[in-house]
Amino acid sequence: MTTAVTARAHTNIALVKYWGKADATLMLPQTSSLSLTLDQFYTDTTVAFDPTLTADQVTVNQVRLDEHASRKVRHVLDLVRTQADRPTFARVSSTNHVPMAAGLASSASAFAALAGAASRAAGLDLSSRDLSRLARRGSGSATRSIFGGFVEWHAGHDDASSYAEPLVESVTWPVAMVALVLDAHRKKVSSRQGMQTSVATSPYYPAWKQVVAHDLAAIKPAILDQDFTTVGEILETNAMRMHALTLSADPAYSYFNGATLQAMQTVRDLRAAGVACYYTLDAGPNLKIFCQVADLPAITARFRQDLGAEQVIVAHPGPGLSWR
Ligand code: ADP
Ligand code: DP6
Ligand code: CO
Repeated sequence: MTTAVTARAHTNIALVKYWGKADATLMLPQTSSLSLTLDQFYTDTTVAFDPTLTADQVTVNQVRLDEHASRKVRHVLDLVRTQADRPTFARVSSTNHVPMAAGLASSASAFAALAGAASRAAGLDLSSRDLSRLARRGSGSATRSIFGGFVEWHAGHDDASSYAEPLVESVTWPVAMVALVLDAHRKKVSSRQGMQTSVATSPYYPAWKQVVAHDLAAIKPAILDQDFTTVGEILETNAMRMHALTLSADPAYSYFNGATLQAMQTVRDLRAAGVACYYTLDAGPNLKIFCQVADLPAITARFRQDLGAEQVIVAHPGPGLSWR
């Protein structure tokens, strides 16, 4: 069978972050986490299993990946081949509509789209939960990108129990996430490497697990109540406490740059001036600002003035995995 299947998945921004694995082989996290899927950033991936191939061929943004660069993709393809009981190699072609490896979560949309396209191309008809479990094997954050809206990834304790589930899939709450593209270059420390160093060496890691448990319990009812202030306060403190695990690791590292710190200060200034907004950031320097849609003009005007119009991207809650 050489039918080509194309899937689209959107990135997500974690509001309560995943930062550490309990099992690197099964990709089980140390803690549960919760995110918002974003409409502006996504990956389209096409997969075709082809019996004439003698190896998998993986192309991302028109560039053919070598064996090392394609290993995570081939790992997911191997899992699909095992499940479908089909030994055929595949041609994978993927396009990111998101800057790669810059902390804008390209791995989340990439591996969610791959799980969707590869499973269907192999003739599997997986449930959303099983797609989420498959995406997890490529990248932890991809577990959540199978679903739209506010999504929780249950840490679980084995392959079967570690999956994501939507908390609110169709979001009617008028909130937005303003992404500041402060540096779109590839980061020096990958998420995978960074979180491993934090788990192994940060003396604050046990405290982080308590923070996450507390934040998750508090943020879920606040999201359901559309309590903007509580959600904003939790996502900002949670992000800073995650980043404290980078500064407290040995060797220490950081995803912040000078522009990140400046933009954080601008958010605090806006807040002091009465514009309610809160920041978060994943493993990269690019800040995301959580706000209410009514405040978008004031917030975007300020950052477009500081940074230039192209660096400021307004995202809204986005949809889950789809096939085209
Ligand atoms: P990010 O913040 O962008 O998620 P990560 O370090 O988590 O950064 O992941 C980046 C890695 O994800 C890339 O180096 C690449 O291995 C993988 N990746 C990104 N986009 C794709 C894609 N479309 N297809 C396959 N792999 C991808
Ligand atoms: C800071 O999912 O990119 O974005 O599981 O090793 O592929 P791997 O890492 P990845 O890590 C995401 C970390 C984060 C927080 C989050 O998305 O929850
Ligand atoms: Co990632």
